[in-house]
Amino acid sequence: MSERPGDDPIFSLNADARRRAAAGEDILNATLGALISDDGHLLVPPSVEQAYARVPLERSSAYAPIAGEPSFLKAVVKDTFGDGPLSAASTAVATAGGTGAILHAITSFLDVGQTLLTSDYFWTPYRTIASHTRRAIETFRMFDEKGGFDLRSFEGALVSQIARQGRSLILLNFPCHNPTGFTLNAEEWKGLTEIIERHGQSAPVAILFDIAYAKFGAPGSERWIDRLERLAGSAQILVAWSASKAFAQYGARIGALIAVQHDELERQKIANALSFACRGTWSNCNHGGMLALTEILTEPDLQEAYSKDLREMVDLLNRRVEVFNAAASRVGLTYPRYEGGFFVTVFTPDAKLTAKKMSEQGVYVVPLEGAVRIAMCSTPEASIARLVDTLEIGVREAEGK
Ligand SMILES: Cc1ncc(COP(=O)(O)O)c(C=O)c1O
Repeated sequence: MSERPGDDPIFSLNADARRRAAAGEDILNATLGALISDDGHLLVPPSVEQAYARVPLERSSAYAPIAGEPSFLKAVVKDTFGDGPLSAASTAVATAGGTGAILHAITSFLDVGQTLLTSDYFWTPYRTIASHTRRAIETFRMFDEKGGFDLRSFEGALVSQIARQGRSLILLNFPCHNPTGFTLNAEEWKGLTEIIERHGQSAPVAILFDIAYAKFGAPGSERWIDRLERLAGSAQILVAWSASKAFAQYGARIGALIAVQHDELERQKIANALSFACRGTWSNCNHGGMLALTEILTEPDLQEAYSKDLREMVDLLNRRVEVFNAAASRVGLTYPRYEGGFFVTVFTPDAKLTAKKMSEQGVYVVPLEGAVRIAMCSTPEASIARLVDTLEIGVREAEGK
């Protein structure tokens, strides 16, 4: 216990950046994953504010059902899968953000001592959650030599995980992966699902799609859903849904874990197990938040207002992505395919050194293994030129040039 880090390193970096900014320095803080307007404010869609205003205090103050408000869960499933057969075969529970959904997936689909499989670039709380619940993570190489998704490495890791523990839990965060910004293309989705179909027959395989950033994906990025119908025959499909990013409800802790199961009896067993996990973890979640989200997702006038708000958020981010791509390729930075989303990573042989050099110039990014992560969501468009110039200096320094 005494060896556990007390604070998330990203929150510490953020605190340092804020301290210097408060002391009057011109700081560009590209560490924290929230969508900030170009003039420095947290962007909260007006439709979300309207939705909260419609929730009577007497309802939001009451306890929510253990598994979550049924109308909320139904709306979340529809938001994820639409009206098709996947929705009909889904069960869901409300969770404390996407984080809570990931927690429930790990504890319900892996035994103590077992390991989940994810890419070697991953959102570090995956490891924290696994370790805190006495599970672990193992990784496959995310990118092949050409910068595409390394299907071969994925398959090798999956086969060896199945051989070792007789089951697998795969955790994927697409579209708009954090930290790399990468989204699988059609070919890669096809390859991935074929691999799972091949091996899902030999052992129980569950696959958790962490879709925290999905609404910010480029057109076509929603194609992962088209492959699920087939995949559901050979793997347990799970989805971690979150209101944090798409509805800017970071602090409200609203999320859900969805499980797709065509067999009714099995579906009921999963529903029971997940409800048990809710009771044993937090009892029930933010009722007011669930009710407000239900309003947005089901009331036609709010749905329309939210679509417009979302469009504006996506457009804001996409403009930054475009400006970044143009500037970064001009100076020859190396980074994965980046078509949208809150983050991108730029490769560097010495990430700590790159981040240090950049912070000396007042620009904060997060050092990872072999890359630094940039939060485009909190970088104003007008600061991208400075960001890229500083990145170039930091990366060249690490390359010893
Ligand atoms: C990859 C990824 N998954 C899930 C989450 C979960 O967020 P929350 O628990 O706020 O819904 C985050 C938040 O930063 C994230 O980056």
